[in-house]
Amino acid sequence: MTGFIHQLKKAELHVHLEGSVDPETLRELDPALDEQKLKELYAYSDFLGFLRSYKWINLRLTRPQHFALITRRLLERLERENVLYTELNLSVGVWLWRELEFEPYFEAIAAEAERSPVCVRFIFDAVRQFGLEAGWEVARLAAANQSRRVVGFGVGGDEARGPIKELQPVFDWAKAQGLHLAPHAGEVVGPQSVWDALECGAERIGHGIRSIEDPVLVRHLADHEIALEVCISSNVCTGAVTSLKDHPVRRLFDAGVPVTLNTDDPPMFGTTLEREYQLASDEFGFGEAELRVLAANGFKFAFDPAVRKMDR
Ligand code: ADE
Ligand code: ZN
Repeated sequence: MTGFIHQLKKAELHVHLEGSVDPETLRELDPALDEQKLKELYAYSDFLGFLRSYKWINLRLTRPQHFALITRRLLERLERENVLYTELNLSVGVWLWRELEFEPYFEAIAAEAERSPVCVRFIFDAVRQFGLEAGWEVARLAAANQSRRVVGFGVGGDEARGPIKELQPVFDWAKAQGLHLAPHAGEVVGPQSVWDALECGAERIGHGIRSIEDPVLVRHLADHEIALEVCISSNVCTGAVTSLKDHPVRRLFDAGVPVTLNTDDPPMFGTTLEREYQLASDEFGFGEAELRVLAANGFKFAFDPAVRKMDR
């Protein structure tokens, strides 16, 4: 299956740039980091532990060149995995909270995207628990940079601490500006969180795995062709599912929900996109024809309209 998975033309719709930093690169950025600290940093038993490490890594990215380096490394990895198209989540909500100056940081990332053979688009993520005003700032930047490959607006962070409905006016405005909407929802909070995201206009759902707890929602996602950005290893590592075998990816797929496979924060969850496909095959019995469907969905549900026709 390895050769088959490799040769599949793939798209990745849910990967965080700031979560793509591997321990070796982190040590390049901060040579003072010792083995023990690195080990602790990449190990967590729950979602909040993961978010703490994610924040810690974000804080190590202090210069535009750091963002250039991690973008280059991520895109090189995606290219090696035969990923033709990606939508990179940028935690712009975290940048603003850190008072980083947007332009030099985004320019460093955009310049690397320009150089890569991988077709790159960006989704700017606000942070749920940072509230409405902070959300507005992220959406304004996303809208203002649509000519520089920004196609979407989303929201990440602590799902339990920031009800998405609070951001409804921001989502409405972002949509009216021509942005697509792909918030995280139903990752660690139940189906109501996905319903709320849909009411905010979500076109795809980041994770959305807890939709499985509500048969009406499952039917709604299938009938309305709302894709889930499923990240199996992420869900195991953050404790969003109790164990790998309990992951609902197979049940969602069989119920007709459009599923895409993604990595979320690949080195933080010890994974790659090819490994996620391998897991689907080894652990959930996805055969070649089904893996082809998963790969095609990555193109079919892309936000760039030209890419929707680019698969295979
Ligand atoms: N930011 C990076 N990864 C995330 C995740 N899995 N959930 C919410 N916010 C995130
Ligand atoms: Zn994510």
